[in-house]
Amino acid sequence: MTIVSIWCRHKNDSIIGIGPDIPWYIPSDAKRFRNLTINNTLVVGKTTYETFPNRTLPNRKFIVLSDVADYEVSDKQNHKVVTDINVLKDYPEDLYISGGASVYKAFFTIPKLRPDIVVDCVYQGEMKEGLSGPKISVAPCVEVMEKEYFALPQKFELDNVITSIWLKKGDFVEQETVKKILNYMETEGK
Ligand SMILES: NC(=O)c1ccc[n+]([C@@H]2O[C@H](COP(=O)([O-])OP(=O)(O)OC[C@H]3O[C@@H](n4cnc5c(N)ncnc54)[C@H](OP(=O)(O)O)[C@@H]3O)[C@@H](O)[C@H]2O)c1
Repeated sequence: MTIVSIWCRHKNDSIIGIGPDIPWYIPSDAKRFRNLTINNTLVVGKTTYETFPNRTLPNRKFIVLSDVADYEVSDKQNHKVVTDINVLKDYPEDLYISGGASVYKAFFTIPKLRPDIVVDCVYQGEMKEGLSGPKISVAPCVEVMEKEYFALPQKFELDNVITSIWLKKGDFVEQETVKKILNYMETEGK
């Protein structure tokens, strides 16, 4: 199993959300997320799950983290609720950690669940105004990433988003997955 964490954070403050909303909309960023996660299993917190239209995204399976074991998902065949994140330690498929902040933090905190790869997309522009709710940031995860991971030399810039790929230091990382991500990044926007 390879664990990939993927987010788009704001430069400097590492904000990923304000209340339930992502404070920018960049079609190429949404497209990158779609193409990198297609046909894979995504792990999301209940709040993020509920922000997806009809609580789903096509051609993906979901693991929804919630303390509510009988939470009713929108697609019983492809979406599962998990209350104890530790059961994912030996999951038979790759996992794409897709937010929100509480889920990224949980994965970065438990050594056996720490992502092997981080797709670190950093938005350089201004955030939307007029959103209400707490500012939600992944700064603690970025701190761990900067210490415990190394960035591949390639940087990809598109529509004000700079993406770098980070790999966990000192551990074997499945090269097929790295190659797949790099292949997409090298052709995106072309
Ligand atoms: N920019 C990006 O890349 C990006 C990506 C995804 C999300 N976001 C943003 O992130 C924000 C949401 O983040 P958030 O941290 O507030 O919420 P979240 O992580 O999406 O969901 C939080 C909920 O997930 C459940 N949960 C989380 N960790 C759990 C664990 N270890 N065990 C069991 N249940 C767990 C709990 O549900 P229960 O209350 O049911 O127990 C918790 O209330 C939104 O603004 C969203 O738009 C941004």
